[in-house]
Amino acid sequence: METSRRTVIAAAAAAGITAATAGTSHATSPGGKPGGKPVKELFGKLADGTKVHRWSLANGGTRLKVLSYGGIVQSLELPDSRGRYRNVSLGFDNLDDYVASSPYFGALIGRFGNRMAQGRFDLDGKTYQLSVNDGENSLHGGAKGFDKRVWDVEGFTSGSDVGLVLHYTSGDGEMGYPGTLKTKVTYTLTRDGDWRIDYAATTDKATVVNLTNHVYWNLAGEGSGSVYDHELQIGASRYTPVDKGLIPTGELAKVSGTPFDFRRPKTPGEDIREAHQQLLHGQGFDHNWVLDKGATARPEHVATLRDPASGRALKVATTEPGLQFYSGNFLDGTLVGTGGHIYRQGDAMCLETQHFPDSPNQPSFPSTVLRPGQTYRSTTVHSFSAR
Ligand code: GLA
Repeated sequence: METSRRTVIAAAAAAGITAATAGTSHATSPGGKPGGKPVKELFGKLADGTKVHRWSLANGGTRLKVLSYGGIVQSLELPDSRGRYRNVSLGFDNLDDYVASSPYFGALIGRFGNRMAQGRFDLDGKTYQLSVNDGENSLHGGAKGFDKRVWDVEGFTSGSDVGLVLHYTSGDGEMGYPGTLKTKVTYTLTRDGDWRIDYAATTDKATVVNLTNHVYWNLAGEGSGSVYDHELQIGASRYTPVDKGLIPTGELAKVSGTPFDFRRPKTPGEDIREAHQQLLHGQGFDHNWVLDKGATARPEHVATLRDPASGRALKVATTEPGLQFYSGNFLDGTLVGTGGHIYRQGDAMCLETQHFPDSPNQPSFPSTVLRPGQTYRSTTVHSFSAR
């Protein structure tokens, strides 16, 4: 933990800031004591009567609320340098809005993060047709991906860690994907307040897998306006340009001399309005960065996001070779978020750790094939600080 982080937590404790006084409109739930066992409550019911629960956990100054529906991070609260908490993740205060119209707010994404061209791929001589839900393409696992499934969730404490284990078994052929995929995702809050995600999956037939999480970050607090003035750094010298449908062309283009160069911290706002063809395709940034570190056995630092006004910062470390930076381009003022404010274009950004989009159709990209007997593993760690 950084010294500043300790100071902040101490300041928050001294100021008597608790879940009830944190200044967020939805902070009425049991909360989950720092370092204590996660607390479960009913959040709502689906149309068929299935109960959806919300789990609250806290550790090291970070407070997290997670739904059994989609493994959704419904709220992630962080202190600023003076100990003032804000929910820094876009979402809703009720289940119906998540079911009706969520653009993947905070959700677990599977079986395949991002796009698959024409919702189709070949594997071992067979062609698989997937659920198509984004023009002619398949996006984030199809019409009913992992973000819309009810997961089995259990809370745990282990040493100084607090967390949740989420299980979902996706049947052979679900959304067109071959193989029964048994998926286990662990959300851990460490004593330092880091939020760690460990993904694991096994299959009984050869298939493809690419899991991620779709938190929309606004480090000033959800509903507080644009993130174009956040500072972003991404450790990538290349990115994967896309066509009009946001499918990678297969090229690994250099970021140097383009708006895509985030090797040194800069704000997305600096050149998001540049007339670059790729920014037109994405209506902003909506691309996969080819991380210089490549795929690694252990999570390595790949990106830092900082809000200069509040001082809140996020560091992302991952085992994955790619990072989708999406600048909230499709938020269009039609959704009312958790705190009662309307979300508009650029009001948050996603940093989705992943294998590259459309990998099964792109022989030069790192493979996303999973075979029986193998275990898919991926880890991403989010570390927070404030100064
Ligand atoms: C991802 C995609 C975007 C968009 C969002 C959800 O980040 O890359 O194009 O579909 O999810 O709105």
